[in-house]
Amino acid sequence: MKQDMIVILDLGSEQNAQIAREVRALGVYSEIHPHDITAQALSALPNVKGIILNGGPNRVVDGVEIDASRAVYDSGLPLMAVDHKGEPDWPADDDARRAMLSGFVFDLCKAQPNWNMENFIADQVELIRRQIGEKKVLLALSGGVDSSVVAALLIRAVGKQLTCVHVNHGLLRQGEPEQVVQVFRHQMDANLIYVDAVDRFLDKLAGVADPERKRKIIGAEFIRVFEEEARKLEGIDFLAQGTIYPDIIESGTKTAKAVKAHHNVGGLPEDLKFELVEPLKMLFKDEVRACGKALGLPDAMVYRQPFPGPGLGVRCLGAITRDRLEAVRASDAILREEFHNAGLEGKVWQYFTVVPDFKSVGVRDNKRTFDWPVILRAVNTVDAMTATVEDVPFALLQKITARITAEVPGVNRVLYDLTPKPTGTIEWE
Ligand code: XMP
Repeated sequence: MKQDMIVILDLGSEQNAQIAREVRALGVYSEIHPHDITAQALSALPNVKGIILNGGPNRVVDGVEIDASRAVYDSGLPLMAVDHKGEPDWPADDDARRAMLSGFVFDLCKAQPNWNMENFIADQVELIRRQIGEKKVLLALSGGVDSSVVAALLIRAVGKQLTCVHVNHGLLRQGEPEQVVQVFRHQMDANLIYVDAVDRFLDKLAGVADPERKRKIIGAEFIRVFEEEARKLEGIDFLAQGTIYPDIIESGTKTAKAVKAHHNVGGLPEDLKFELVEPLKMLFKDEVRACGKALGLPDAMVYRQPFPGPGLGVRCLGAITRDRLEAVRASDAILREEFHNAGLEGKVWQYFTVVPDFKSVGVRDNKRTFDWPVILRAVNTVDAMTATVEDVPFALLQKITARITAEVPGVNRVLYDLTPKPTGTIEWE
């Protein structure tokens, strides 16, 4: 294994993830582990050079006083306990924090700054090969950043022992299913099963207007389709998942309360039990992107903006119809193309179009029209909990409007949503 590691002991501090990031920013790999880590678990971690006890050794969590396990004090490794009384319990000043961390990591622990994507990939390839051996592994490849990077990593490690299943539910953006096939089947020579489930999903969704019911149907149908494909295959022992570090941190360590459960392909029936392979589970999102880039994935895949699991299904408001779904897809493609041309692609966090389920009167070629509107949305956010509206140049909005009304059938009006979150959510459903 090529990388040195600093362990951050989880004593209930909300700053753990931030400290892990700070250590990695110094070029040294770091992981967060439970405060009661056993001697066995600690010695199984490769190349540990030191341990940070943040929140102090006597932290009270949910009324219970916790301390680091005996194993930590007995390890003989350099320890740094940060236990300032009151808030903040970690230097607030960025430079002071970095200097303190750097002194500990390099001077005391003698860690090498050898955390980089090349070493990460080399280590993961070795770990994946050790775990999977000669056996076979399955992956639900949505085309999102995380599953795409997992696929690329597994192809590097075990090649054709991996089978990817791409379920096209008809709710992806223009060109996305084709790109998955192009990149993984043709460029990376992967085993890829492409399932055209468009009719099946749209039939199930016909007449369903409630957003949460739509989400449930899409999620449940996805699992059903994936399960059917998994049953057709034989001799698969492993299931790969694109779990990333924020999923694990949010799902709750021993001391943090669970924020929400993350199940990428949860809900598979009991008799389809696989051992999990989760090679990105220690990476933050920007590191996942860097990993994808290092593995040769195209920028369009690696820097893909956030896209909800139910896809365009929650942007075609109310009961989904094929004509409005195509209007969402076509207008979204125009918006993306124009944002790309205007250099806004990497600058705006999320931008998309919405088609509501009401019509308005318009006029075209001296004739009255009665068609759908398209709503444009472009927002910026740090954590998706709040969001501000992008100040898109008026001339660009006019150009997008002209293109959408000219090129998208059944659309006669374009609106720009000026609502921040709160009071609006980012999505409309
Ligand atoms: P809202 O609309 O709640 O969205 O402001 C916040 C962020 O979450 C995304 N989003 C979803 N992602 N499944 C997902 O995987 C969903 O059902 C879902 N709904 C919203 C949304 O795109 C935004 O980035």
